[in-house]
Amino acid sequence: MKKKTVAGILVALGLALGGFYLWHARVNQHKAHLAEVLDIARLLRPAPVGQKQVSDVDVVHDIERTLVDYTVDDDIKKTIAKFLNETVGMVVGEFAIEQLNGAAQHGLSGNPLFLVKNAQGDLLFVIKVFKGPFHADHNFMRELSGFQVAATIDGKSFTMVTARAVGKCVIGGERYGLLAISPAVGTSLADVMMKMIAYLRMSQHSPEMAAAIRQELVEAISLGGHAFKRLGQVYAELHQLRAQKEVGIHPSIVRYAETKLIKVLRVLERDDHGIDRKVLQRYFYALLDRLQQEETIRSFVHGDPNPANFMYDAKTDSLYMVDLGGLIRAADCDGNPIGNRTVDFVGAIDGIEIDKLFGLPEQERARLVQAFVAGYGTVPTKLERDFFTLLHRLRFLGWSVPFEMTQGDAETLGVPLAIWQHELEELKKLLSTLSETLEL
Ligand SMILES: Nc1ncnc2c1ncn2[C@@H]1O[C@H](COP(=O)(O)OP(=O)(O)OP(=O)(O)O)[C@@H](O)[C@H]1O
Ligand SMILES: [Mg+2]
Repeated sequence: MKKKTVAGILVALGLALGGFYLWHARVNQHKAHLAEVLDIARLLRPAPVGQKQVSDVDVVHDIERTLVDYTVDDDIKKTIAKFLNETVGMVVGEFAIEQLNGAAQHGLSGNPLFLVKNAQGDLLFVIKVFKGPFHADHNFMRELSGFQVAATIDGKSFTMVTARAVGKCVIGGERYGLLAISPAVGTSLADVMMKMIAYLRMSQHSPEMAAAIRQELVEAISLGGHAFKRLGQVYAELHQLRAQKEVGIHPSIVRYAETKLIKVLRVLERDDHGIDRKVLQRYFYALLDRLQQEETIRSFVHGDPNPANFMYDAKTDSLYMVDLGGLIRAADCDGNPIGNRTVDFVGAIDGIEIDKLFGLPEQERARLVQAFVAGYGTVPTKLERDFFTLLHRLRFLGWSVPFEMTQGDAETLGVPLAIWQHELEELKKLLSTLSETLEL
């Protein structure tokens, strides 16, 4: 072989190796950067009792300063491509980016979501894009802090998605936060219920139709039962990991609940919707006072128990937890559990019950609730259930949805408004049962 050719091969080899090392170094550098950002976001959670709380404003500022800007040409897809190339080393041209539309994703936050797939159509990453992300109460901040807790939780019966890359960009003069998340497999529990509803509806059309889809209907119902039983089992495991007995609920949860109460009291000031604000406030504090004297369990929680946030893969009977922002209330900044499991328990049941709005019959709802409770194995105390059910209703009623209706687009507000009204009616029922229980 000629000397020149050998030299050429050596140079090419050297370049290739150099390129590989550079790529490797960049990806490793990115991992350190991601860990650094998540570690800062940890400080958005409460400090252990007796330790000084770091200011939220400082933490958010620190995150903003630390994040790398990936903006390209005022174009979100080009920006995401650069983001993926420079963080996880994806080669531009070897993956496709699709936007998931709002209706399909069942999300209420309105943050655009993008799916990143390879040539075979496999899902590689989910990219969440958060508008105006730099304040402490923003979903972006909550998710960063939640992902930091999730990384410390080692579940045997479930998988929590993980953060793979984080960044920022500016599109159309607006600032955005970028998050690349590992893929979950399966169907969301919201879609599992939608499938049941669709087949139940079809089966009512005519006897012929009912006969034709009998098998699908049986399968949809059985899928629902398995999925919710699994959710119960998964929650049971999550709630038992490092659980500790304490008296009362954590001060940060009390503060959080109070902010929800105040928000709803403000909403009811404009129109009371048939609810006496003084009664609501009195019952809230009566339940809280009693709860603060009881022995309770402090545990990790998912914290956002909407069925759209869980994906069930029937093939492997596995359950994935997505949307981890609620984990910000699962642990303090040192990672010690501070949540109360009842938040997930009552949320899961309400998540099933709410599907009556979409036509899931009572009998099927009862079946799913039963499967969930059987999977969970225990039931929180009545006091815990009353308090956390009240908090659950307050969370939904704190939305200002009905007041934005006039300018809003009916299509997007239809579902939130129906949920708002459902929660309002349920709150009225709860207050009337509490009037007997609390003997006030
Ligand atoms: N990592 C993932 N893998 C597969 N699908 C996902 C993943 N993350 C999200 N999804 C799908 O996208 C939907 C919306 O995502 P997510 O729940 O994270 O955001 P969101 O609902 O818009 O936020 P919020 O709950 O705060 O309103 C989920 O219900 C799920 O169906
Ligand atoms: Mg969600």
